[in-house]
Amino acid sequence: MEEKNSILSKRKNFFISTYGCQMNVNDSERMSCLLEMTGWVKVPQPEMSDLILINSCSIREKPVHKVHSEVGRYKYLKNKNPYLKIGVSGCVAQQERSRLLKQLPLLDFVLGTDAIDELPEVLSRLENEDREVVSVQQKTQDPYHIKTLIGDPGVSTFVNISKGCDNFCTFCVVPFTRGRERSRPLVHLIEDIQSLTKRGVKEVTLLGQNVNSYQSPCGANFSRLLENLALHTDIQRIRYTTSHPKDFNEELVDTMQKYRNKIMDFIHLPVQSGNDKVLKDMNRGYTREEYIEKAYMILEKVPGSVLSTDIIVGFPGETEEAFEDTLSLLDKVPYEMIFSFKYSSRPFTKAKSFKNQVLEEVKSNRLKRLQKKHKKLAFSLVEKYKGAVLKVLVEKQDCKTKLFVGRSTQNKLVYFEGIKEDIGQIVPLKISHLNISTCYGKKI
Ligand code: SAH
Ligand code: SF4
Ligand code: F3S
Repeated sequence: MEEKNSILSKRKNFFISTYGCQMNVNDSERMSCLLEMTGWVKVPQPEMSDLILINSCSIREKPVHKVHSEVGRYKYLKNKNPYLKIGVSGCVAQQERSRLLKQLPLLDFVLGTDAIDELPEVLSRLENEDREVVSVQQKTQDPYHIKTLIGDPGVSTFVNISKGCDNFCTFCVVPFTRGRERSRPLVHLIEDIQSLTKRGVKEVTLLGQNVNSYQSPCGANFSRLLENLALHTDIQRIRYTTSHPKDFNEELVDTMQKYRNKIMDFIHLPVQSGNDKVLKDMNRGYTREEYIEKAYMILEKVPGSVLSTDIIVGFPGETEEAFEDTLSLLDKVPYEMIFSFKYSSRPFTKAKSFKNQVLEEVKSNRLKRLQKKHKKLAFSLVEKYKGAVLKVLVEKQDCKTKLFVGRSTQNKLVYFEGIKEDIGQIVPLKISHLNISTCYGKKI
C-alpha cells in the first residue's frame, strides 16, 4: 500500500523547461496553472518529475537543437521511471508535428501552439490509452478568447493581446508556427487587466508579434486599446512589445504622450537591417528613411523616450556595403539596446531558398563588428543616467545580492538597497553608477 501511495504521489510532479520569447514564457505559466488545477505539483528539477514538458522555440536553428539534446538527456530518467511522460509544446511542436515523434522516440506527446488548454485532456488520453498523442490543430476563428492564467503574477506581468502573425517576413517561421493573427476583444482586456490589478499587479506588458496591428472586434485599434486601459483600469504602468515599424503611426505616439503618466516611454522597434534592398527582400514593408523618420517622430513627440531594436546580420544577399548601411544606422538612431542575430535559415520561409546565402564566418564577423560598434555608442548614450533620478517600480529582492530591483519608465533595470515594503511601489532613485544594461541607485 505504501509502495502504491508513493508512486501515486510521485506521479503528480511536473517540470517545464521554456525556450524562446515571452509568448512561450506566458504559455508555460498557463500550462503550469492548468496542471496545478488538476492536481500536479511543479518541481524545479526533471529528476524529480513524472511529466517533463519542453516548451520549444524555432526562431533560429540553435534553440531547435537544444530541444533535441534536452530530450536525449532524459533517456536515463525514462529508464528509471516507467511512469515518466515527455512532451514537446511550442513552436517546434507546431512545426514538426508527428515528425517529432519519429525524430525523438523518447517523446510521448506533441502539443501545438493552439492546443495548450488541451494539456490536461492529452495527459488523461496518454494514461488511458497508453499511446502517443499529437495535438496541433490551429484555431482560426476570430476573435481570440483567452483569459490570463498565471499563478503568481507579481508586480509586473505579461498579457497577450493578440496571437499569430500575418506579416510573413521572408526570414521568419512565426507565421507558420503561431498561425494567423487574431486579437482579443478590448472589453476582455480591460476586465482581465483590472482583475490583475486586484491581485496586486501594478504594470502590464501587452504582448503580440505585431501589437500595432491589434484590432478589436469593436473596431478599436492599438492606440484606442492603450487609451482605454489608461482610462478604465487601475493599472499604473503599461508597456508593450513588439512593434512593427510599418504599422507604427503618429496616432500611437500622440496617445503615448497624452497618457505618459501610465504608458512607459520605452519602445522596442525592430529594424532588422539598415539597407533598402535587404529590407525589401525581407518583406519588411518600410525603407531605411521611413524607419528613421518614425524613430525621430517618436523621439521628438515623446521627449526622453528610449529605443531598442532587433538586427539580423548575414541575410541572404547582404553584401559588405549593405551591412555597412546597418552599421551606419546605429549612428543615426540612438538605440540604448540592440538584440542582434546571425541569419538562420528556417523551414517554410521564402528566404530559405534565396540564392547568395552568406557564409557562416562572414555572419560571425559582421555580428562581432555590429556588437562592438553598439557597445561603444551605448556607453555614451546611457551616461546621461548617472546622477539622474529615475522612477522605479520595485519588483522584487534579488536572492543573490539581496538588493531590491525594479524598472524605470525607460525600462532600465535599477538595483538599490531597499526594504520589503518597497515592493510594488514606485520609488525615485538617484543613479550612482551603471553599465549598459543595469543601473545602481540610492533612495533620495
Ligand atoms: N514579431 C517580432 C519578433 C519576432 S522574433 C518582430 O517582428 O519584430 C524576434 C527576432 O528574432 C526578430 O526581430 C528577428 O530579429 C529575429 N529573427 C527572426 N527570425 C530569424 C531568423 N530566421 N534568423 C535570425 N534571426 C531571426
Ligand atoms: Fe516574424 Fe515578421 Fe511576424 Fe515579426 S512581424 S513575427 S519578424 S513574420
Ligand atoms: Fe520562438 Fe515561437 Fe516565440 S519561434 S520566439 S517561441 S513565437
